[in-house]
Amino acid sequence: MTKTSLPHPSTSPQVTADVFDPTGLIAQRALDIDASGIRKVFDLAAKLKDPINLSIGQPDFDVPEPLKQRMIEAIQAGKNRYTPTQGIAELIAPIRRQVMESTGWRDPGILILSGTSAGIMLSMCALLNPGDEVLFLDPYFVMYRHLPKLIGAVPVAVDTYPDFRLHADRIAAAITPRTRLLILCSPSNPTGVTLTATELSAVAQIARKHKLMVLSDEIYDAFCYQKHESIAPLLPEQCIQLKGYSKTYGMTGWRLGYAAGPQVIIEQMSKLQQYTFVCAPAPAQYAALELYQSHRVDMTPIIDAYRRKRDMVVGGLAGHFAINPPGGAFYVFPQVPGRQTATEFVARAVDKNVLLIPGQVFSSRDTHFRISYAIGDEKLKQGIGILNEIAENTA
Ligand SMILES: Cc1ncc(COP(=O)(O)O)c(C=O)c1O
Repeated sequence: MTKTSLPHPSTSPQVTADVFDPTGLIAQRALDIDASGIRKVFDLAAKLKDPINLSIGQPDFDVPEPLKQRMIEAIQAGKNRYTPTQGIAELIAPIRRQVMESTGWRDPGILILSGTSAGIMLSMCALLNPGDEVLFLDPYFVMYRHLPKLIGAVPVAVDTYPDFRLHADRIAAAITPRTRLLILCSPSNPTGVTLTATELSAVAQIARKHKLMVLSDEIYDAFCYQKHESIAPLLPEQCIQLKGYSKTYGMTGWRLGYAAGPQVIIEQMSKLQQYTFVCAPAPAQYAALELYQSHRVDMTPIIDAYRRKRDMVVGGLAGHFAINPPGGAFYVFPQVPGRQTATEFVARAVDKNVLLIPGQVFSSRDTHFRISYAIGDEKLKQGIGILNEIAENTA
């Protein structure tokens, strides 16, 4: 403590008996978020010995060597300081070219992000006033439900059971005068469902009619086991396209993604980034140049392996579980057999050392469970065997 500083209240002798409990200072918006479903699975994972962990939302491969090398070189070359808020120009340029080529957009704005998550938050901050409504499909990625509430907006989940497809009529029915934003996620977390050109065209029509902005979360675009379809080309003035490097290159901890969209919106998101995330991690931005400047990174063999894993799970469980065929990501969302809830089924699986996530974490229903097949083949096979055994004994 310096001579000029005042003693901290907790160190002053008069108050030592009374230890202040800060719990009462926690804001309602924090208390309103219940992360207990996922946390329970993580806590269990820490306790189980060598579990068959089918709950993990990230790839099981490591970052490709050339990217690692570029990261190390960037750090050693002193690329460790703040970058411009919108990202380094060397990275923005090839991304813009790629976005223009794939969407046909003429002059998109690009913002480099601290992961796609930052893009979800910043687009909501840029687009939503308190009371505005955000539509997204149920089952959903958890952030879609919780982040709108942080800014006083209203999350509205549109049911997609039992097939998890995009039903344009249900989206149309959920629109009110307060609806501003529609979030799409294809390939989907948690269902693995991929949207078709026909489905996207139907929803683009609705977005045009009601002047909605569409946030297209395409973080799993590389894990698409047929051609990846995006709504972006259909809505040049009304779409924010989010893409990430986390899943594609196994670099979830590097925190890198980008948003592409109309310049006026991207500028607002960039301004908000300046006062929140500041910029995406500098070394990760420089490392990502590798992807645009050389062709040393080829993810095709890995994506092929993931396609085989998908087939292994879907084929392996087909006898006991109802499954909507997943076209992408690395998730399957089977229905729980019999009358039990997903939470009960997951508890049975945990008893047999298999970790899953119950549907209620991603949905208003608790009838399905999420399997992540981003795990070695041997473990995956064992996991499938155990799930079938449980189904036989509980159906
Ligand atoms: C659908 C979806 N969007 C966004 C993210 C966030 O990814 P990141 O912030 O690592 O780019 C995830 C991560 O699980 C996800 O599943």
